Amino acid sequence: FIDNVSAIEVMDSRGNPTVKATVTLSDGTSASAIVPSGASTGKREALELRDGGERYMGKGVLQAVENVNSVISDALIGMSPFNQAVVDAVMKEIDGTENYGKLGANAVLGVSMAVARAAAQSLGVPLYRYLGGANAMVMPTPMLNIINGGSHADNSVDFQEYMIMPVGFEDFTDSLRASAEVYHNLKKILAEQGHMTALGDEGGFAPNLSSNEEPIQVIMQAIEKAGYKAGEEIAIALDVAASELVTEGGYRLDSENRTVTSEELVAYYEELCAKYPIVSIEDGLGEDDWDGFKLMTERLGDKIQIVGDDLFVTNANILNEGIQKGIANAILIKPNQIGSVSETMLTVRLAQRNGYKCVMSHRSGESEDAFIADFAVALNCGEIKTGSTARSERIAKYNRLLEIENEIVYGEYLGSALFN
Ligand code: PGA
Ligand code: ZN
Repeated sequence: FIDNVSAIEVMDSRGNPTVKATVTLSDGTSASAIVPSGASTGKREALELRDGGERYMGKGVLQAVENVNSVISDALIGMSPFNQAVVDAVMKEIDGTENYGKLGANAVLGVSMAVARAAAQSLGVPLYRYLGGANAMVMPTPMLNIINGGSHADNSVDFQEYMIMPVGFEDFTDSLRASAEVYHNLKKILAEQGHMTALGDEGGFAPNLSSNEEPIQVIMQAIEKAGYKAGEEIAIALDVAASELVTEGGYRLDSENRTVTSEELVAYYEELCAKYPIVSIEDGLGEDDWDGFKLMTERLGDKIQIVGDDLFVTNANILNEGIQKGIANAILIKPNQIGSVSETMLTVRLAQRNGYKCVMSHRSGESEDAFIADFAVALNCGEIKTGSTARSERIAKYNRLLEIENEIVYGEYLGSALFN
């Protein structure tokens, strides 16, 4: 049974405080988990409880820590760690709100992940095996964010993420190697062209380029210079994070000095998709622009993956509405948007049942915790988005996946089969 639940305040990859929760079982097993934090958050995400005031510019999480150490701990001590749903439901009930408005999703998710990890450890099985059982065997195809813009970098680029997807390889290990080679070549090309090679929050470069198309062009050059075939071996994915671009007159593209309507933006995507091997676009429209999303799905839904992040916020109710209305065809999965391991699993099940692809995802503020690597394999997500091949908080996830691929005998890597 659960013998002790506690938390402390630690730091994330941006130097902001976050929650580290620890769960100890009666057999002596002890496991911890650290909660990530977003920058371009969706409006309907579960609440991340911050202290306010002057400490850490208001971003302290001592209240969330206190909630773990008192009310959550009191409720969970004595419970079995092997029934994740019951543990998560108890925390949901004592919170009593729709969005963890009282305890904080950062308090609840930390404990939820630590309970899962302690249970796995106590049974002596890897976390992906505990959460996914014998059927967990799909190694995710990574989306690596190698040029950062938007609110993840201080450069001129409006779109938030330019990613490569190594789709033409046999396994995860080879895919990651090829991606790292493209990344190194991209750095050389940017330097040769006189651009900055400073990094954004997710380890991608953050050069000042003069349009939102130019990053795609330099990535195409990098793929070629690394000796790979663009499209066939390495495809391109975008996260526009368009909620961040919304202004009164439409969507503001600063780097191109123009403001566009939803329709013009969708036409822009069509143009880009015709010119480049783009296989996936995330948050192409703002989170409230469901008409725009509908249009984008109609125009591009049979050609590319259309991912809802801010749009669905890992929330089964919102996803269900999207499914009914024919909006998008894939969902980004961020456990801290919804607040617990069990609720994340429910959303993934709903998506998979309805033919929506699931992309397990990090946040821009991360830590050394690689929980999502195991979680992606456990749920057979098939895709994971966890930054470039730089910065240890991103590499922690990739290194864990390399380890998992070595362990799994019947590991399956989908790559381009994802899009057939
Ligand atoms: P966030 O960004 O973690 O800052 O929200 C990631 C994303 O938009 O996918
Ligand atoms: Zn996103």
